[in-house]
Amino acid sequence: MKQAILQMLIENQGEYVSGEQISKTLHVTRTAIWKQIKNLKQEGYEIDSSPRLGYRLLSRPDILKPEEIKIGLATEILGRELYVFEQVNSTNDLAKKKAAEGASHGTVVVADQQLSGRGRLGRPWASPPGTGLWFSVVLRPPLKPFLAPQLIFVSAVAVCHAIRDYTGLPVTIKWPNDILFSGKKVCGILTELSAEIDIINYVVIGIGINVNQEMADFPPELQEKAISLAVAGNTKYNRVGLLKAILKELEKEYEIYLTEGFPAVLKHWRSLTSTLGQEVMVSSTDETFTGVAEDINGEGCLLVRTEDGNVRSVMVGDVSL
Ligand code: BTN
Repeated sequence: MKQAILQMLIENQGEYVSGEQISKTLHVTRTAIWKQIKNLKQEGYEIDSSPRLGYRLLSRPDILKPEEIKIGLATEILGRELYVFEQVNSTNDLAKKKAAEGASHGTVVVADQQLSGRGRLGRPWASPPGTGLWFSVVLRPPLKPFLAPQLIFVSAVAVCHAIRDYTGLPVTIKWPNDILFSGKKVCGILTELSAEIDIINYVVIGIGINVNQEMADFPPELQEKAISLAVAGNTKYNRVGLLKAILKELEKEYEIYLTEGFPAVLKHWRSLTSTLGQEVMVSSTDETFTGVAEDINGEGCLLVRTEDGNVRSVMVGDVSL
């Protein structure tokens, strides 16, 4: 019943909903409504109660709860199977476990805190509670395994678009899928694959976004390289709202990818990247070199022109601008 009352208040956010209206719609007594309003207030919902006018929702807390995520989620598939935790080791690890146990395409695992969040190339990913968005999406794409890396570009485009729309900040993509603000990292994506020789079992897309941290919240070694959306935009953002915006964009871009193909995604990626045209340093497992990032090819490899005039194609590696 609490959920239904909340739903009514959210649908009329900012307007009063009378006790009588709630009572008639949900077939509950005024006392029962009052009790649930008290519970909601305790959870952090700011609700104005007027004996004459009823109840008015003023603000919603920024807590990751399944109910909050589900209300107003504008996706058909992503997030319909949803797991929300206060604390996990890594949402990617948990999503892989759920996927191996049969979780459906579009399953989402979210946590307020990760104790051993993982980044690309085996690096740790700092994931403190209450400030960031740490989540993973299980996809079961009808693709050959060798095409799975294309999803790295699908997810980067979706996340970059969603952050731009939600915050108005001009974030960009650094090849292949970091999201930057003013050259500093606001988001990283870790894509993991489980496959047989010629079929994909599942792909897990793990997304970590620095949303509301202050600069002092970052470990000293990250302060030069990382930034949060809140510091970038000088305001706090609602993590639940941002999560819903990203799931919607990811569903949309994934559909574009399946129907129109990888070139359509690459076109979007090119319009959002800050890597092309830049002098870059490329570090792969066995070497480091510099050059100008000229383009990406049809497979998503970065094409770097080195000083000797040759163009090198980079498939895996780290790029610094
Ligand atoms: C990177 O840029 O190195 C990728 C970082 C990915 C971090 C996210 S947070 C949610 C998900 N769970 C993890 O353990 N890692 C990813």
